[in-house]
Amino acid sequence: MASTTPDASAAGTLTLGGDLEVRRLGFGAMRITGEGIWGPPANREEAKAVLRRALELGVNFIDTADSYGPEVSEELIAEALHPYPGGLVIATKGGLKRPGPGRWEPDGRPEHLREACEGSLQRLRLERIDLYQLHTVDPRVPLEDSVGALADLRDEGKIARVGLSNVDTAELERAREIVPVVSVQNRYSVADRDSDPVLDWCERQGLAFIPWGPLRGVGPDGTGVIGRVADAHGANELQVALAWLLARSPAMLPIPGTSSVEHMEENVAAAALRLSEEEFGELLAAGP
Ligand SMILES: NC(=O)c1ccc[n+]([C@@H]2O[C@H](COP(=O)([O-])OP(=O)(O)OC[C@H]3O[C@@H](n4cnc5c(N)ncnc54)[C@H](OP(=O)(O)O)[C@@H]3O)[C@@H](O)[C@H]2O)c1
Repeated sequence: MASTTPDASAAGTLTLGGDLEVRRLGFGAMRITGEGIWGPPANREEAKAVLRRALELGVNFIDTADSYGPEVSEELIAEALHPYPGGLVIATKGGLKRPGPGRWEPDGRPEHLREACEGSLQRLRLERIDLYQLHTVDPRVPLEDSVGALADLRDEGKIARVGLSNVDTAELERAREIVPVVSVQNRYSVADRDSDPVLDWCERQGLAFIPWGPLRGVGPDGTGVIGRVADAHGANELQVALAWLLARSPAMLPIPGTSSVEHMEENVAAAALRLSEEEFGELLAAGP
């Protein structure tokens, strides 16, 4: 790829909930914590440099969660970026507890979600969270109760918009009976398309689809297609995977995660990578 300064604005924009515009290439801030997404990062200054570089490169959507670290990712975001520049959207999530490194436990009880949201507001030094997402559905708690708690937080002005994560379309329909939902965050990549029906639903209904793990499973495949497309553009396979996501749907808002400034630059550079229709189709057909 040409070696101009990477610029997230090359990905274009989408609008969250009809009134909040963000660039379509964001940053997932889970990887700026310690191993197992637990504790502080090995290099705190590098983690903050990654966040600052994201903004320099035009990224204006950062995804985080109270459970990343836990608390570490949100604290680092505030430490590195507060006071926040206008137009920066920090989306966070609640609904997962962390009993230890690499361990995640759903907790969708209304009282927990309220406490989690209050903690995020404090750590992020915000009076209102632009986008607050239910991290996952807790099988022990009726979805209506968890979403109802987010609706209350929205009514109180603590959160501006509600998103869901790790859901299917039936759950989305149920949640929408209670509160407007502006985004869905599910696992999705060129190599993992189980959430295709949810993505298509989001596109039809005007919700943003935020694929987590957008680079997962991407690499040399049996077909050699992704490597060939990457070579044709002087890019790497991960950049092609991001470009494919951006081309897949105008509702798509990828949030690649990294702990490295160099990787951040590579990932944002993918915003300018345009696949031909033929390349897009070949990657689609190559299958996950
Ligand atoms: N809602 C959910 O349940 C959920 C679950 C998981 C994640 N998420 C969110 O989604 C975001 C993205 O997911 P993810 O971080 O798990 O997966 P990802 O973005 O697909 O991949 C991140 C991994 O790829 C590596 N990487 C990134 N850019 C690279 C590059 N240019 N070259 C080589 N390696 C590169 C990173 O290592 P380096 O650090 O070395 O770059 C890291 O190990 C997270 O940060 C988080 O915000 C949400």
